[in-house]
Amino acid sequence: MAPASLLGKTLGEIPTPALLVDLDLFTSNLRRLAGFCRSQGIAWRPHTKAHKSPEVARLLLGAGACGITCAKLSEAELMAAHGIDQILIANQIVTPAKLERLSRLQERATVLAAIDNPAAVPLFQQAAQRVGRPIPVLIEVDIGMNRCGVQPGPPALALALAIHEAPGLVFRGLMGYEGHVLSVKPAAAKSAACALALSHLISTRDLLLEEGIPVEIISAGGTGSYQLTASYPGITELQAGGGIFMDAMYRQTFGVNDLEYALTILATVTSRQGGHVVVDAGFKTMSAFHHPPHPLNRDDLRLRYLSAEHGVFEVAGGTGPQLGELLQFVAGYSDSTVFLHDCFLGVRGGRVEQVWEILGRGKLD
Ligand SMILES: Cc1ncc(COP(=O)(O)O)c(C=O)c1O
Repeated sequence: MAPASLLGKTLGEIPTPALLVDLDLFTSNLRRLAGFCRSQGIAWRPHTKAHKSPEVARLLLGAGACGITCAKLSEAELMAAHGIDQILIANQIVTPAKLERLSRLQERATVLAAIDNPAAVPLFQQAAQRVGRPIPVLIEVDIGMNRCGVQPGPPALALALAIHEAPGLVFRGLMGYEGHVLSVKPAAAKSAACALALSHLISTRDLLLEEGIPVEIISAGGTGSYQLTASYPGITELQAGGGIFMDAMYRQTFGVNDLEYALTILATVTSRQGGHVVVDAGFKTMSAFHHPPHPLNRDDLRLRYLSAEHGVFEVAGGTGPQLGELLQFVAGYSDSTVFLHDCFLGVRGGRVEQVWEILGRGKLD
């Protein structure tokens, strides 16, 4: 069925499985994230890797985001083609052909890129000179996650000096991602771990300022630490994005309790056997990567396993759902679920009110 033909349909009329967004809860999450950043006097540049949708990106901007964050160059190209003009690619780009694309993209939008290695500086410089468009950059600093990022302090300063001297690159600031602190417990230990991680960005900023290098942007933060990061002195932008949907990982593993489950998977019970039921949503519909999905508003079902197109749930109390019954599942991790689908169905009052295409699906380069 063409997605647009689903507009106005009730949940019972939608072919399953389907990816639903509760529009009231989504709007409340948007307002909470945007409002918290505003209350801390910082900008919100939400990561769009979870939704990969220009229509959702436009709603974020409408709610007060200063721009968006992308994980991939092709995602940024898609967003720019749809009129989004302030973009951060929070990832490393190091090949000449992609750097030329990045330089060319500056004609349509301001697209900041991350850089974490002095060896990349001449590659950026050559691409920018070939195309004739300077590339604005943030230095990515490793603030303890041990993924990408130059070490804080003197190594970051050396990279900043190299960028400063290279024609074709425009140094705008620093970024880091404190992904290693998100699941730290208890809350006091998480807060301390987050502060330690972010202190590396601030001490590096101070070192650059001492050398006379202006640092305009300091960007960090995921949904799992959004309040800690947004309130840390010196942070100027928050990248948290997936919280607009919320998911079971954010709540159960990262302890985020003030955002609502807006994203669910609608599925139908297709089989009842012995002590279990089967739904028409397996791992090609609702991934269990990082965290398993769970049924919304019912505690009688336990996930046994997801095969490709079957979700198998043990009935752990009562008679369980009936054959043909509709169930809604909270996504385990929004990021590993959304990209399996072509569109979101935005639902209000039990009817489909919006269809948002996930145009960035498959944009991986
Ligand atoms: C660079 C970067 N920034 C921010 C985030 C946080 O994103 P989200 O808020 O969607 O969890 C991530 C998550 O993986 C990331 O890799």
